[in-house]
Amino acid sequence: MALLPIHRYYMLNGTLEPVDTFVPSENEGGIYEVLRVVNGVPLFLDEHLERLYKSAEIAGRTISFCTEEISEILKMLIAKNDIELGNILISYKTNLKAFFIQHNYPSDSAYKNGVHCGILHAERQNPNAKVFQTSVRQQANTLIAESNFHEVLLVDKQGRITEGSRSNVFFIRGLEVITPKADRVLLGITRKKALQCANLLNFIVKEEDVKLEQLSNFDAVFITGTSPKILPVRKISEFEFSTENMVLRKLISKFSFQIEEYIKDTQL
Ligand code: PDD
Repeated sequence: MALLPIHRYYMLNGTLEPVDTFVPSENEGGIYEVLRVVNGVPLFLDEHLERLYKSAEIAGRTISFCTEEISEILKMLIAKNDIELGNILISYKTNLKAFFIQHNYPSDSAYKNGVHCGILHAERQNPNAKVFQTSVRQQANTLIAESNFHEVLLVDKQGRITEGSRSNVFFIRGLEVITPKADRVLLGITRKKALQCANLLNFIVKEEDVKLEQLSNFDAVFITGTSPKILPVRKISEFEFSTENMVLRKLISKFSFQIEEYIKDTQL
């Protein structure tokens, strides 16, 4: 997806600019965040900003704007574009840019019937940092387009499934909710929220390696991310999973409720 601003304005180092003055830049190696805006509220803003600074630290960069300044930048971007719903990209390389980007949210039928995921043998460097890494993304995008997958899951050299190309992955077995270990994945904000929901619902939460050949041991699978939220997976390659699984459905409802509560609390 092209990283170009949509709507009327974007923010460049804290200044509002018309989108037709936007100069696309080479992003490779830059750090970024993607946030979802609902009812004009950027969801889980504190967590996204915390991760932005963490990514900068891992990438050896220093962001010269504090959290309050970036929050104000986002507020102005949302207000001046007068937009209630969508995705915002914050990117930082030499400049701090914030703008609305095209989004692609799953359909109602994808939430009901689940999606089909492929497999890509690839590893992201510095998995904890949200850094533009064009090569893995391009390989993933090619495979997704060729085979009409919704997402591809990355498998490392040891045969472990780590995460999606733009999502985290979870596996359900009985009342256990399992996700790959924190040091091997991008610490997704939605992953964190899904883990919180699983704990609140008293499911058994585990961070564990899951290998490709173990897939048949699981009842259900889902991916998480800013755009997919919690999205059931129907099929990974030829392995099929239940999308009506009770644990999965409870997690989806709980997460929707958490979003509604966050919006209410933020709008107060
Ligand atoms: N990607 N893993 C990877 C490799 C990702 O790129 C993303 C998100 C996630 C999920 O993180 P979160 O729940 O914070 O969205 C996991 C974004 C949205 C993107 O690059 O467009």
